[in-house]
Amino acid sequence: MKIAPSLLSADFGRLLDEARSVEALIDRFHWDVMDGHLVPNLTFGPPVVNALRPVLERPFDIHLMIDHPATYARQFVVLPGDTITFHIESLDTPSDAIAAIRTTAARVGVSLRPSTDLDRLANVLDDIASILVMSVEPGFGGQRFMPDSLERIRALRRTIGDRPIEIAVDGGIHAGNIADVVEAGADVIIAGSAIFGEPDRGVAIRALREAVR
Ligand code: DX5
Ligand code: ZN
Repeated sequence: MKIAPSLLSADFGRLLDEARSVEALIDRFHWDVMDGHLVPNLTFGPPVVNALRPVLERPFDIHLMIDHPATYARQFVVLPGDTITFHIESLDTPSDAIAAIRTTAARVGVSLRPSTDLDRLANVLDDIASILVMSVEPGFGGQRFMPDSLERIRALRRTIGDRPIEIAVDGGIHAGNIADVVEAGADVIIAGSAIFGEPDRGVAIRALREAVR
């Protein structure tokens, strides 16, 4: 299991310090890019993420919750091992979004809202490295994990078969439910408030790791 803290729940006034406070303890950084259209919230985009990329070591997972991933994906300056994930519900056709991500060094990821049919992924399974399963409605941190997500993860595992696709799960994960999410088939756990909402990030991350042992 890999842990990717979502900086959405960090103090934006100290974003670099917040990232560095967890870097030694985690596997990747998760960046929630929102446009106020696909989701009802606004965060940051390429200028902020690109400024942080050279000063942090761990891989970046860039979660594009935006209507036009094909336009903006190519503006991220990423490194091999990073991932750019677009939403299958975005307005661009999936093949255009995938082609745009491929102009960067990043791996291709696709995400879907809790209510989106898993069949929507059928046409992209041979073109992606990662599926990001949303276990809350995208847009905000600190929401409750939707228990139906567990069955969706299991179903995706079966659909993926032996394709080299990882499953990441995002939203409402904490020490009390992380074991269920991993047991269902998650490879990467995203956690925002369970890490940045806690005063001691080391204690918080250890609690997540120990809960799956
Ligand atoms: C929600 C974001 C998540 C969120 C996770 O739209 O995609 O990454 O920040 O935060 P928690 O762990 O607090 O649900
Ligand atoms: Zn996210």
